[in-house]
Amino acid sequence: MQTDPNAHDMIEALLKETRTFPPTPAFAAQANAQPGIHEEAERDYLGFWRSWAEKLTWSKPFETVLEWNEPFAKWFGGGTLNASVNCLDRHVEAGRGGRIAFYFEGEPGDRRTITYAELLHDVCKLANGLRKLGVKRGDRVAIYMPMVPELPVALLACARIGAAHSVVFGGFSADSIVDRMKDAECVAIITTDQGWRRGKKVPLKATVDVALEQSPSVKHCIVSKRVGDPVAMRDGRDIWWNDLVRDEPATCAPEAMESEDLLFLLYTSGTTAKPKGIMHSTAGYLTGVTATTSLVFDLKESDIFWCTADIGWVTGHSYIVYGPLALGATGILYEGTPDFPEQDRFWEIVERYKATILYTAPTAIRAFMKWGREHVDKHDLSSLRLLASVGEPINPEAWMWYHDVIGGGNCPVVDTWWQTETGAIMIAPLPGITTLKPGSATRAFPGIVADVVDEEGKTVPLGGGGYIVIRQPWPSMTRGIYGDPQRFKETYWSKFEHLYLAGDGCHRDVDGDFWFMGRIDDVMNVSGHRISTAEVESALVDHHAVAEAAVVGKADDLTGQAIVCFVSLRSHSEPSAALNTELRQHVASKLGKFTMPKELTFTQELPKTRSGKIMRRLLRDIAEGRELGDTTTLADSSVVLDLQSRVQAASGKEE
Ligand code: WTA
Repeated sequence: MQTDPNAHDMIEALLKETRTFPPTPAFAAQANAQPGIHEEAERDYLGFWRSWAEKLTWSKPFETVLEWNEPFAKWFGGGTLNASVNCLDRHVEAGRGGRIAFYFEGEPGDRRTITYAELLHDVCKLANGLRKLGVKRGDRVAIYMPMVPELPVALLACARIGAAHSVVFGGFSADSIVDRMKDAECVAIITTDQGWRRGKKVPLKATVDVALEQSPSVKHCIVSKRVGDPVAMRDGRDIWWNDLVRDEPATCAPEAMESEDLLFLLYTSGTTAKPKGIMHSTAGYLTGVTATTSLVFDLKESDIFWCTADIGWVTGHSYIVYGPLALGATGILYEGTPDFPEQDRFWEIVERYKATILYTAPTAIRAFMKWGREHVDKHDLSSLRLLASVGEPINPEAWMWYHDVIGGGNCPVVDTWWQTETGAIMIAPLPGITTLKPGSATRAFPGIVADVVDEEGKTVPLGGGGYIVIRQPWPSMTRGIYGDPQRFKETYWSKFEHLYLAGDGCHRDVDGDFWFMGRIDDVMNVSGHRISTAEVESALVDHHAVAEAAVVGKADDLTGQAIVCFVSLRSHSEPSAALNTELRQHVASKLGKFTMPKELTFTQELPKTRSGKIMRRLLRDIAEGRELGDTTTLADSSVVLDLQSRVQAASGKEE
């Protein structure tokens, strides 16, 4: 692949991987997905998706399956339904209200068990409270909370009254909240007084207060109590959750939503500084997440499912909230980090709740490997029967460690490739059918038509690499970028005719299995979080000392990629170690702590082409210590040589 200078190396490294793990007969016999399912979906792709949509509870059945007006899809037209009814009421009405929806474990060690009946009760009360405040069908509501039970309650209460939620990950800064709330014209925000992180209190409400100064559309701020320290409450705008719901009835008539009505927005980074409000529909999204939860995770009544993602990202939306709840599953909700108070916290949780399915990210697995297996060996993990991975390519060593040390060699490991935009898992093994290969996401989910194409959009023969594309619409696909249909077309549907462009590089082996190779655009993947280089650059130039900045992702053993910045200063500023730290902290305060750059190098000039385009490819070579690629198009080649020697000198110091 021409666009990624590393792609070639990555392909070769992966090709050396020849281990295979066919399903055991015992797992295969009991699996939800049985052989023939891919072929059946291929024969009748609309029929496959229709059958999954029919498993939902509808207030009015749908009439059509798909209307496709590229790139805008309408699935299950004519029907009405409510997502909260599908996640809650239908289980309670079937007499399963006493089933546990969530085992909640707080970071300080407090625990709660929440049944479906209790969840429905809480959702109805909050939904009534929101209605009382004037929040109505068609509105947007921002949610900025830690991983506490009130978070899924907030999502489902919005869904119940037909208001779209827009969850902003609790690690984001006030500025990031403002951008997202303004773009969506949110009418309310739901937050928490404070949260817990590694034993420290995180000031969520105070951050929201700063954001609200600049968010005129937001009329109400609902605050749930987690920590209990006093926080400022503004009269007429702020209200405690408990006060809001106290006198509300415990039942609430759900809105009958059209299939295509907006269920939620989730903002994600793209190649420009402005985050994109990814839109998801009600029926198509629910269909996609229920089908994949059932078939990829092989979810059963008896399972205890732990997806360790934060609900602030799409993985938490789809595989903590909507997929598992729609199937009536029992899940684990954990508030904290894997290393608090000790590095065995995850394994303690698996053991305590007898988790059967664990879904986590390669960056976490690599951290566990580094911490050592003694933390794992202290605990009985024999309840686990399936392991899964998401967020970035999983390297074969991490896959093997996950399989052998966490799974005791007894659990299939399913690597799941998908995106905020796809709503649900797209490429993944079906654990009772697919032969696993460490490092490969294997094959497309039934009903998903994926391909790898070259620069011209032509299918690359098996054994080659290129761009991953999707050839046919699917129910959980995004319905577009909020307020910007043009950008939606340009970003995903313009490079190749009639193909959805995901933006990832991918290689297929001779068996047709997919091996992902990372982004091909200017989006970095740091610990599974998508961060755009442009966003970090604009945070840097926002600082008064900075004239110009270029940002690239550098391969990192632990986080997948790390953020590396090259900065030229204004004439009145001088490079110094203090300014270096200050600038990196500036990024963290503008965008959120998790975006703190790992390295920053000062330079007089950035390497540019004669037309003035910054050559990121060369900066990546410099950051990763490679020999420089072609420099002939540079306006001034001394710039890169100078930079290269600075970076080498700096890394020499570290060693
Ligand atoms: C990357 C997260 C390789 C990829 C669900 C994608 C992966 C981006 C995998 C989406 C995987 C996610 N193997 N790469 N199994 N899963 N990615 O929107 O680059 O936060 O485009 O959705 O993460 O990130 P997002």
